[in-house]
Amino acid sequence: MSDQLIKVPADWAKSAYVDDAKYTEMYEQSIKDPVGFWAEHGKRVDWIKPYTKVKDVSYNQRDLHIRWFEDGTLNACYNCVDRHVKDKGDEVAIIWEGDDPSVDQTITYTQLHHHVQRFANVLKDQGVKKGDRVTIYMPMIPEAAYAMLACARIGAVHSVVFGGFSPDALAGRIQDCDSRFVITSDEGVRGGRPIPLKENTDDALDSCPDVESVIVVEHTGGAVTMKEGRDVWYHEVAGRVDHECPCEEMNAEDPLFILYTSGSTGKPKGVLHTTGGYLVYASMTHQYVFDYKPGDIYWCTADVGWVTGHSYILYGPLANGATTLMFEGVPTYPDSSRCWQVCDKHNVNIFYTAPTAIRALMREGDEPVKKTSRKSLRLLGSVGEPINPEAWLWYHKVVGDERCPIVDTWWQTETGGILISPLPGATDLKPGSATRPFFGVEPVLVDNDGHPLHGATSGNLCIADSWPGQMRTVYGDHKRFFETYFSQFKGKYFSGDGCRRDEDGYYWITGRVDDVLNVSGHRMGTAEIESALVAHEKVAEAAVVGYPHDIKGQGIYAYVTLKQGQDPSDDLKKELVQWVRKEIGPIASPDLLQWAPGLPKTRSGKIMRRILRKIAEDDFSNLGDTSTLADPGVVDDLIDNRQNLG
Ligand code: WTA
Repeated sequence: MSDQLIKVPADWAKSAYVDDAKYTEMYEQSIKDPVGFWAEHGKRVDWIKPYTKVKDVSYNQRDLHIRWFEDGTLNACYNCVDRHVKDKGDEVAIIWEGDDPSVDQTITYTQLHHHVQRFANVLKDQGVKKGDRVTIYMPMIPEAAYAMLACARIGAVHSVVFGGFSPDALAGRIQDCDSRFVITSDEGVRGGRPIPLKENTDDALDSCPDVESVIVVEHTGGAVTMKEGRDVWYHEVAGRVDHECPCEEMNAEDPLFILYTSGSTGKPKGVLHTTGGYLVYASMTHQYVFDYKPGDIYWCTADVGWVTGHSYILYGPLANGATTLMFEGVPTYPDSSRCWQVCDKHNVNIFYTAPTAIRALMREGDEPVKKTSRKSLRLLGSVGEPINPEAWLWYHKVVGDERCPIVDTWWQTETGGILISPLPGATDLKPGSATRPFFGVEPVLVDNDGHPLHGATSGNLCIADSWPGQMRTVYGDHKRFFETYFSQFKGKYFSGDGCRRDEDGYYWITGRVDDVLNVSGHRMGTAEIESALVAHEKVAEAAVVGYPHDIKGQGIYAYVTLKQGQDPSDDLKKELVQWVRKEIGPIASPDLLQWAPGLPKTRSGKIMRRILRKIAEDDFSNLGDTSTLADPGVVDDLIDNRQNLG
């Protein structure tokens, strides 16, 4: 916690779209009259057929539905590309910065228009039709953006799978949404190291017999095998298709994309977003939160495999006609000055990243930052996990030279766009607080019984009513949608996060209250990692919890019970870590793995994670009541083993 208040700089209050008075006025209007408010702001995108109905929402179990602008029609790709061609065709839409610092590329809106139409025709040539799900497993190259926009153009539903996921994880996501089309690339490169995307795809497709077509974009030129009758090179098909492709007229509530995310139970959920409300919300938040002005160079360091990449590299910025920078590499390659060198090279004005990157760079000291100019920077942003005040202050002082406001933006894959964040011309900042809600968003803190809590307090973070960017369902499992978000606290959307509200009405996100971990800003379900471990032939049982980690925010701590007759060894530990990487991907690698002869369970067999978390945190003084355990002795064993782990 930090008591510091960093005032809105006077020039920001004057020049920003919104100052404090305007924020209050707009916010009040948005809560008092959401229909009137969104009827007006929905016009920020171009509609083919304008909507007459603005909002139709019910959070009731029997009738759960969320509809915005439901009788309007539009095309998301048209809004992100075509509509800018006339007036700003020669302006840069995408700046691409390669992993190799000597490689970059700029793509104007006119060029983007050409690329996307051609990509759309390649999809059609391969048999993709409106409503089909297309899986995109790509590195951070412009073709990833073309592919997503091409899907939107022809009304196909993209499902982007992060390039760091394993073949098994990719296969699960292809199967879950019955995707018959995959777009990938020969290889990706990050930090100078190749990532075998096509090879991973081949492995995944061993268990996906329904995939008809794999479109392969050549990137590194690395060797790949092409399966006859299934795999095609993008450039070969692109050479023979037409260069013009009209936009499909889509209903506001037609699906735009699916994005898989981890929950506290079961396999990852396919979060479904639709077209109209999502685009309105992504573009509006992008404009106001980042105070995006024409001509600004905007850089969000996320990967398009995550929602941040969808909403704030692609859809939000492009809908606003912005210049968005896409970075293939990592912040520490070739060295830890890279981000600031890129800012200087491309004159970046707005920089948006995750606390884990800030902490990792902070560890390298001030020198790598100070040797760059960064004078183009105007605004800094943070997303993905709580930012500790120490990292916030370093970001503000060292990176931003105390000149740039920081917008700490709280939101989720499910929310489509930012829900709680400062507006840089309106909100005084407190390091570590996401501050105040965006327009149309009414946060409610409730106790565990669902009673709303008032004033300065802490509780479970819910949102009282819908906003246009909200997810519409879990793909193929509407029941799970209800159960996950609307069953625990009736009539409200429950985020899964805990939160404190201070005496000024500022919100401080305290982290997940469920069994979801946030590791380097990536969401991981403990249940997913546990089931991966248990799938190993030598493992009888596993329990995974988070523990505080200096760089990653949370680290992954796995307790593993081996089957009878199996001997614990350091080699087996390594093997299990490798196993999890193979099952899910490197981001799920356990940081610490402890052998557990037994796990603390209640008499009914429920694992008491509270105790496991305390042990992982090295806090043995506060284990709480262990008398209800079936075998209280296991706790002592676990503590002994923990101490051996150091
Ligand atoms: C966490 C990423 C604190 C939170 C956009 C949420 C944050 C989860 C913040 C969603 C923030 C995201 N401060 N915590 N500014 N932003 N989170 O779906 O726990 O990958 O529930 O979306 O990240 O992660 P997701």
